[in-house]
Amino acid sequence: MKVEFYKHSLGQEEKEAVNAVLDTIFLTTGDRVALFEKQFAAYLGAKYCVGLTSCTAALHLALIALGIGPGDEVITTPMTFVATSTAILHTGATPVWVDVESDTGNINADLIEEAVTPKTRAIIPVHLYGQMCDMRKIRQIADRHNLVIIEDAAHAIESERDGIRVGELADIACFSFYATKNITSGEGGAITTNSQALAEKIQILRLHGINREAADRYTKRYEHWDLIETGWKYNMDNIQAALLLPQLRKIDENLQKRQELYNTYTKALQNISGLQMPVETPDSRHACHLFTIWVDPQFRDKILFDLQDQGIGVAVNYRSINLLTRFMQLFGKGRGSFPVSERIGDSTISLPFYPLLTPEQTNYVIDTVISTIGKYKTGKE
Ligand SMILES: Cc1ncc(COP(=O)(O)O)c(C=O)c1O
Repeated sequence: MKVEFYKHSLGQEEKEAVNAVLDTIFLTTGDRVALFEKQFAAYLGAKYCVGLTSCTAALHLALIALGIGPGDEVITTPMTFVATSTAILHTGATPVWVDVESDTGNINADLIEEAVTPKTRAIIPVHLYGQMCDMRKIRQIADRHNLVIIEDAAHAIESERDGIRVGELADIACFSFYATKNITSGEGGAITTNSQALAEKIQILRLHGINREAADRYTKRYEHWDLIETGWKYNMDNIQAALLLPQLRKIDENLQKRQELYNTYTKALQNISGLQMPVETPDSRHACHLFTIWVDPQFRDKILFDLQDQGIGVAVNYRSINLLTRFMQLFGKGRGSFPVSERIGDSTISLPFYPLLTPEQTNYVIDTVISTIGKYKTGKE
């Protein structure tokens, strides 16, 4: 049997939405983007949303808009995708990693304060796999040291913890609509914020630093525009927004399907020796973006390749990023620097996890994972 690692659920509604844009003459940032921004902000209970081309762009502009640059330090996690830290580097600031919790893989809030120096300006928590970090605690630390918070919510649109929604306690939250994310436009991203000034600044920075959007120039009588900042080209377009709008309407329905799958996997895999899973945080809503298992590090790669040989798509989210070549060159934080993150990075495997997975495929994944782990544990490979 073949089980893809990921399959999107885009169908007729999304095709019609894109076709409707293609039937107009306006393809770039316009009315579809404005509508998506309004509805996405409403879904999250945020005041403002700005549509962008990726979460990487969102993180970059969030940092720039908050005035972070050369000489500044930004506290974040090594258990994430590289973009969380490369966005910091693009501003000229330095990422300062803090180790993670052993049961969730999220940044360990109890270790953040030790990493604060006079140069620290911001914290970027990442809600790994869709489980929220302890935002109440992180906000308190930030307030004590006069730091801003940018949430990397690439996995976490639907997340909630202790009655707090994702982005609620942040200065800016950043989202991804990359090909495998909970809602997707192939590539895409957004920020949310409750600050009008930050939203307006990011709106200008996403389009070169020009003080007027293309839609204004198209729909209104010509007026000269001006360049008022040195910006980037990070604006979401109407085609991306059209693709996202129907998915936003179905976001909770699709979450429920992934929650059911999450429960099926968890129940079937919870008492298997040689296999652990991240623990669910109480009083929280998990966005169920990725389903990961943790196996014995000495067998991880063998199990990973063996599952692939048996037709199961897998991924590794993530190897601890301090150990990647470029970050080793820059910071030299070798093995032992972040023991918990490194242990997770050495043992993790992500399994196929999406609403279109059939019960037969789900059972095949479960049976194959159990038998494959058993094989290596008993040395009968
Ligand atoms: C945690 C995290 N942060 C940031 C990103 C970057 O997102 P994008 O691909 O939209 O730039 C990703 C993407 O996979 C991610 O998983």
